[in-house]
Amino acid sequence: MTEAPLIEIHDATIYRGDTRVFENLSVSIGQHEQVAILGPNGSGKTTLLKVINRELYPLRRDNSWVRILGRDRWNVWELRSHIGIVSHELQMRYRSDTTGLEVVLSGYLSSVGIHGALASKLSAAQKAHARDIMDELGVGSLADRPLRNMSTGQQRRCLLGRALVHDPDTLILDEPTAGLDLTASFDYLARIRRLVENGKTIVLVTHLLNEIPPEIERLILLREGRIVADGPKNEVLTEENLRRTYDTDIKVAKIDGYFLAYPPNSH
Ligand SMILES: Nc1ncnc2c1ncn2[C@@H]1O[C@H](COP(=O)(O)OP(=O)(O)OP(=O)(O)O)[C@@H](O)[C@H]1O
Ligand SMILES: [Mg+2]
Repeated sequence: MTEAPLIEIHDATIYRGDTRVFENLSVSIGQHEQVAILGPNGSGKTTLLKVINRELYPLRRDNSWVRILGRDRWNVWELRSHIGIVSHELQMRYRSDTTGLEVVLSGYLSSVGIHGALASKLSAAQKAHARDIMDELGVGSLADRPLRNMSTGQQRRCLLGRALVHDPDTLILDEPTAGLDLTASFDYLARIRRLVENGKTIVLVTHLLNEIPPEIERLILLREGRIVADGPKNEVLTEENLRRTYDTDIKVAKIDGYFLAYPPNSH
């Protein structure tokens, strides 16, 4: 039997509030494909990730479907053990008095924070595992520190820990290095590369070409809810495709397996 794709979207029309973000979108991502999604602000990247993560559903219509791992229906709890998510938006939803350990533990509950009665649902083994993950991510000493007293990079590592508690096969990363300085970004990316080496699949949204790890094989370019180009990274990342995507002249250089975008000479 062939393996079901991670996600299969067929002829989907997807709204965010009153905004129609996608119309007749069809795209499929395999379970072990390493994918990056690029596109201008508002092109639909986060919306697409929310569809994969079951936070958003397309309009119900004949002959239109979204299947995750071959299934139409999922219970959110079950899905979390397959797909983990890290996003700036999720980070912003946490109360500033939530501690590092609470952020990681909230992954077990698929909640934002573990205030009140939720905390009693967690076992000692889960708490010990969460601490181990924090140690691995180099934030073990921040278990009891509230988010407001952490740097953005430290907060983001706790959030990665949250995504990892279930040891999901796939990690969805929406601008995971937004707001991080160069050291914190490179550290984060090195951790992500290590996770890929250890068999995780990454679906990465980023604005920075130089933050696409060499392991990413496939690139999808989005513009206004349409796929401008989709295929092997080396073939998709052309100046012509970037111009069509961003309506801006963009030069591209390739260095040591990484890509760089820079503006053309203006004089
Ligand atoms: N809650 C909402 N209600 C209405 N429209 C929304 C909502 N959230 C997003 N949109 C609209 O949906 C479209 C796609 O937004 P989305 O967040 O997917 O873009 P994006 O590609 O992730 O952009 P960015 O690079 O800025 O993160 C935009 O036109 C946006 O204005
Ligand atoms: Mg976004």
